[in-house]
Amino acid sequence: MMQDCYILGIESSCDDTAAAVINNGEVVSNVVATQQIHKEYGGVVPELASRAHQQNIVPVVHQALHKANIDKKDLKAIAFTRGPGLMGSLLVGTSFAKSLAMGLDIPLIDVNHMQAHILAHFIKADEQRAPSFPFLALTISGGHTQIVKVTDYFEMEVIGETLDDAVGEAFDKSAKILGLPYPGGPLIDKYAQEGNPKAYPFTKPKVSPLDFSFSGLKTAVLYFVERETQNDPDFVKKNMADICASIQYTIVDYLMDKLKNAVAETGIKEIAIGGGVSANSGIRKALRDAENDLGWTTYIPKFEYCTDNAAMIAMVGELKYKQQLFAKNNVVATARMKI
Ligand code: KG4
Ligand code: ZN
Repeated sequence: MMQDCYILGIESSCDDTAAAVINNGEVVSNVVATQQIHKEYGGVVPELASRAHQQNIVPVVHQALHKANIDKKDLKAIAFTRGPGLMGSLLVGTSFAKSLAMGLDIPLIDVNHMQAHILAHFIKADEQRAPSFPFLALTISGGHTQIVKVTDYFEMEVIGETLDDAVGEAFDKSAKILGLPYPGGPLIDKYAQEGNPKAYPFTKPKVSPLDFSFSGLKTAVLYFVERETQNDPDFVKKNMADICASIQYTIVDYLMDKLKNAVAETGIKEIAIGGGVSANSGIRKALRDAENDLGWTTYIPKFEYCTDNAAMIAMVGELKYKQQLFAKNNVVATARMKI
């Protein structure tokens, strides 16, 4: 029998305060407190986020240990998100992790949030296989849009990324123009199910083959809605499904174009996705279709490991623990951090 190796992961890079415990690749608890306060503002307010993290972190960690049915003395190491993210938010998790590790006299492990989104694929989950190296990872969320070539656990290279907005922002900002509440991505997805994706063609922005740009799409949606509501003030309400389906179609098609370019360039057909936007039904279907149509092998993690979570931080913690890759005690939160 494998010996227990409990690692605590702490995530506080944006607006979710999260803690999780992993034991030999299996998640034994995964707690997330999503901050509701930002809804009123239509986006994340950094100052409010760090204050909420301060309120949440103790109960969230406590709950993670409780659900794992262990005592903090059973932990082998503490892993935390060092960056990238909002400085004020990162500081809360970093200082908490440091003092806990010091108090327990166990190793402290710093984790790169973007690497964690990718390495989340190695969490053991039912019927879920892990990708084999080398693979391409597409991370798509409200904060990130990247294509990463992954050669080994800690050998990663960003081969394409957004030059402006993240794809989740493209969904959320388009939704806002349509009068939908924040975050609007899931609502666009919902309305899109009933609509015609070819109803309103939006042009896909042209940048280099592996990079992304989404700011033009948001402007195109805005002008389109302004123009149409001049003729008919109820235009959006009457055509919500078709508008959402068209926006979603454009975004998904664009993501797939970029992935195809990346496959052509690298010859790698193992494709893993992560980030909150991987919940989108359009991208999930497009990837499943690519298995048959293009001969790709695609990996989509369970939803709770796609959005910001601490299980992925604990997973990286475990991988680093096994390689004895520990942080020094003077490690600092780093808002801008490369993969
Ligand atoms: O990974 P995540 O929870 O947080 C970060 O941004 O890091 O991602 C949140 C983003 C939001 O922009 C949200 O609108 C988007 O993921 N999202 C979706 C869907 N579910 C979540 N976008 C499109 N379709 C969805 N079903
Ligand atoms: Zn994230």
